[in-house]
Amino acid sequence: MKVIVCENYDEMSAKAFEVMKELLDAKKDAVLGLATGSSPVGLYKEMIQYHKDGYSYKDIKSYNLDEYVGIDRKDPQSYYTFMYENLFKDIDIDLNNTHVPYGSTEADCKAYEDALSEVSIDLQVLGIGQNGHIGFNEPGTPFETLTHIVDLTENTREANARFFDNDINKVPTQAISMGIGTIMKSKKVLLVANGENKADAVKAEDRKSTRLNSSHLYISYAVFCLK
Ligand code: F6R
Repeated sequence: MKVIVCENYDEMSAKAFEVMKELLDAKKDAVLGLATGSSPVGLYKEMIQYHKDGYSYKDIKSYNLDEYVGIDRKDPQSYYTFMYENLFKDIDIDLNNTHVPYGSTEADCKAYEDALSEVSIDLQVLGIGQNGHIGFNEPGTPFETLTHIVDLTENTREANARFFDNDINKVPTQAISMGIGTIMKSKKVLLVANGENKADAVKAEDRKSTRLNSSHLYISYAVFCLK
């Protein structure tokens, strides 16, 4: 795993975009794995600027990591809405080529995994939680886990209450998430982590990547900013 340490959020976003741009330029029909959260928003702004500068995303496909269970796609707090507002609406990607998992059953998980098995993600963007969670996979989730329904921990629900009027009771209790096994099928993984409080989580991923790299590709680049 190549760790690129940056001074600030903008530099982190620009460095992350360098990795993304290399792929976009090389492959006009690239398949992207995308994440929500505050970390990749600056990267998405750079991607929007690239479109304003003339790049077309019309043949690009995207697959998101996760979504809450029990929240309508159109709900302002859904991860679909997040992606639409922070990226899709400002680029020319065909919305039919964008995929965000949805549902609450085994069959919904299998359908997403089946859809993913028809493509190969060229670059998966990840954020990371302070405790090391990736997607909605809490630390300790087995590596081979595929798309699954997660019971959200009290801790995660508390952390996300800020998006639900600071009311933990409004935070969904479950989510649908790619598993680490799903993520590890990607050709490359780009971890974007902002804030000093993520340092331990990034270090732990670095150790894991070194251990895993002999047999699997896990995280290829981590762009980490201290502030
Ligand atoms: C996003 C996701 C989460 C976030 C993580 C970090 O789809 O599943 O794992 O990546 O919670 O969030 P931020 O970037 O807001 O610190």
